[in-house]
Amino acid sequence: MTERTYFTYKGIPLPTMGYSEESLSYMENEFQLLDDDVVTVSYPKSGTNWMLEILGLIWHDGDPSWVQSVLMSDRSPWIETADGLNVALNYPPPRFLTTHLPFQLFPKSFLHSKCKIIYVMRNPKDVLVSHYHFAKFFQPLEEPGTMEEFVEKFLNGNVIYGSWFDHVKGWMKMNRPNVFFISYEELHQDLRGSVKRICYFLGKELDSHQLDEVVKYASFQIMKDNKMSNFSQIPEEYMNHKKGKFMRKGICGDWKNHLTVAQSEHFDHVYQEKMQGVGVTFPWD
Ligand code: A3P
Repeated sequence: MTERTYFTYKGIPLPTMGYSEESLSYMENEFQLLDDDVVTVSYPKSGTNWMLEILGLIWHDGDPSWVQSVLMSDRSPWIETADGLNVALNYPPPRFLTTHLPFQLFPKSFLHSKCKIIYVMRNPKDVLVSHYHFAKFFQPLEEPGTMEEFVEKFLNGNVIYGSWFDHVKGWMKMNRPNVFFISYEELHQDLRGSVKRICYFLGKELDSHQLDEVVKYASFQIMKDNKMSNFSQIPEEYMNHKKGKFMRKGICGDWKNHLTVAQSEHFDHVYQEKMQGVGVTFPWD
């Protein structure tokens, strides 16, 4: 029987399954980021795996063989999980790494490293809805309860990785040339243009045909059919495949189908309060 419980590490709720204080502390204090690492950072359900697929395709000049033959968890390990840390430590450079850690728990070695960070963000209402559905079948997560209950949990930061607001605000302070910010909404609006911007950040040149191939193989439908990326290979112990699919809808604005007018207004109110003074206009504002 799976334990769907959380523990708190330095104030951040995390699943008991797959995480430990030892690996989190090692990650924060001892893990060495290398100058040629590319680290995808996000709050959960923001389009992380989409970015990982895009990066894998860019790195191989639009050729899908790598992303279609190697599991996502081996291509881009989740460094704060015990399993992911193990993969990362045995990964020959250059490494693609992934994390949902808030900035304050990210490896301290970052401050002396030239590694490249790609921070992906998404309309928090869509993040909430995506998380709500994911929590129903991803066994390490607590049952979400009703939408009404989950909205409160989300707004109070009583979900894995804590508050969305703190996560985004914490990372947005990292105004450095080796940190690149992009949103799920931008990827949707203009995937080709976004891929070009990512290539520029990575210092990678792709010709027009290669760009087209990246766009093609990173599409929702092709990724949904890619067994290496669609989570279908995750053991039942972790994921109840009968109850839901990781590649769910992949759209912007699905929150409109799930939140009541009152829930949405309440969300807006908290959002305005928490994001006051950030001084950035997001694509969903
Ligand atoms: P939905 O649940 O709204 O469908 P993460 O990787 O951070 O867990 O984010 C998961 C969300 O990204 C899911 O959103 C998933 O469907 C969406 N997603 C994954 N790959 C995508 C793609 N190629 N195009 C669009 N959305 C994608």
